[in-house]
Amino acid sequence: MLLKVPDVLTADEVRHACGLLGNAPWNDGRVSAGSQAVLVKNNEQLPHACDVARELRSMVMGALDRQLTFFSACLPKRVLAPQFNRYSGRSNHYGDHVDGAVRYQPDSGQKVRADLSCTLFLTDPWAYEGGELVIHDTPEAQRFKLPAGHLLMYPANRVHQVTPVTRGERLACFFWVESMVRSDAQRQLLFYMDMALLRLRSAQGESAESVALTGTYHNLLRMWADT
Ligand code: NI
Repeated sequence: MLLKVPDVLTADEVRHACGLLGNAPWNDGRVSAGSQAVLVKNNEQLPHACDVARELRSMVMGALDRQLTFFSACLPKRVLAPQFNRYSGRSNHYGDHVDGAVRYQPDSGQKVRADLSCTLFLTDPWAYEGGELVIHDTPEAQRFKLPAGHLLMYPANRVHQVTPVTRGERLACFFWVESMVRSDAQRQLLFYMDMALLRLRSAQGESAESVALTGTYHNLLRMWADT
């Protein structure tokens, strides 16, 4: 399921992040690419251990904690430590590739299965040319360039690319989520049901029916969740 989550970061948080990233020790993004991706990857990434990355990771994780929609859509079991990238100048694109299915937490070495890919945009679309996130979904590719502070979540098994940035720079945060519910179809069903229950409760208050349907939601989650 593809989902846009607006306003994950406040305008102040975006400004703070961009200020810090302006003076950060960027690395060639190819150092972390697999053998297929390295052939098409041409961007910059922040080293995991630097102070800026550490501060911004905790800011992003705190922001995600406030997002009930994100939680309901992802049903996260593990979130891989958020990373940061920059597309500008001659390091300006990332051609078609797939993300590796199993990744490792940099600090603990713990394995994380990448069920969902997330991009949190840090630069507003008017500030750069190009730099679209293109996701090859059926029946055709979808192109995204979201406002700063907004997040795009999409299934991690899609071929995707970032088109060349031809003016300005594009800053973003990206990370993967291992979900308690492995199946995209089951996760989507739970998300739609949860959102419908929220609307039902806000329109009609709590009722015997909403309690029964909430029970059904949790029974499905019990059946499908791996904690
Ligand atoms: Ni990717």
